[in-house]
Amino acid sequence: MKCIPLLLSLGLLALSTAHAQSGCFANVKKNGLTVVTSPDYPPFETLDANNKVVGFDMDLLNAVAKHMGVKVNLVTQSFDGLVPSLLAKKADLIAAGMTVTEERKKSVLFSVPYISGPNAIVIRKDTPGISKLSDLSGKTVAVQLGTAQEKLVGDVKGASVKSFNLYTDAAMAVQTRQAQAMVLHKVVANSFVKVYPDLKIAGTLGSLNTSFAMRKDCGDLQNRVNAALIQVRKSGEMDKLVAKWFK
Ligand code: ARG
Repeated sequence: MKCIPLLLSLGLLALSTAHAQSGCFANVKKNGLTVVTSPDYPPFETLDANNKVVGFDMDLLNAVAKHMGVKVNLVTQSFDGLVPSLLAKKADLIAAGMTVTEERKKSVLFSVPYISGPNAIVIRKDTPGISKLSDLSGKTVAVQLGTAQEKLVGDVKGASVKSFNLYTDAAMAVQTRQAQAMVLHKVVANSFVKVYPDLKIAGTLGSLNTSFAMRKDCGDLQNRVNAALIQVRKSGEMDKLVAKWFK
């Protein structure tokens, strides 16, 4: 008597595993890994002189795909459309310097984090009195639409959030005094202050984990991606990529 439910549940388990395995990863194996990104966030992803998407995420993604034995189909769009595209099954994975947040965990699966680091506040060198989050009260702060930073600044009492489709436009807004500050990953802030000599990092905040995101029904794909990320780390490729893009 007891065996029946056990066998039944084992059978169901086998079935669900079989289903999971013939699901997302099998599809990716057959059709390639379709990845969406928003290439306005150097050095995670940006466009080079030939309009090719380059950056840490792209190199990492290619290394991961190689370990998984799949090819990558890259699609670009603005950041706020990435999760909707993933959920609409237009993509299998988001590679966009995406911060792991509890809110996002409700709708997507994250890979193991591949990088972590703080946010930074960027201002014009001639803007006084801003070095921490609470200093943004009463200020206009540029961020990208749909980002964790938009939420972070939105929670600062008295701060007025100005959201842009692209982070490159947010940086331009600070440069041209349409906004007094911008908040973004410190490593990305480093890239922008190189491009705009009038801008500087005024302070750093907290620490963020960055991961690839996948659909909730793609646990099989998440396992493969995690295994590949671990291999990329073990083989020393990760260290090389970090040195190439972040040092
Ligand atoms: N880390 C932030 C977030 O996840 C911003 C990422 C922006 N990425 C990009 N490719 N524009 O919300």
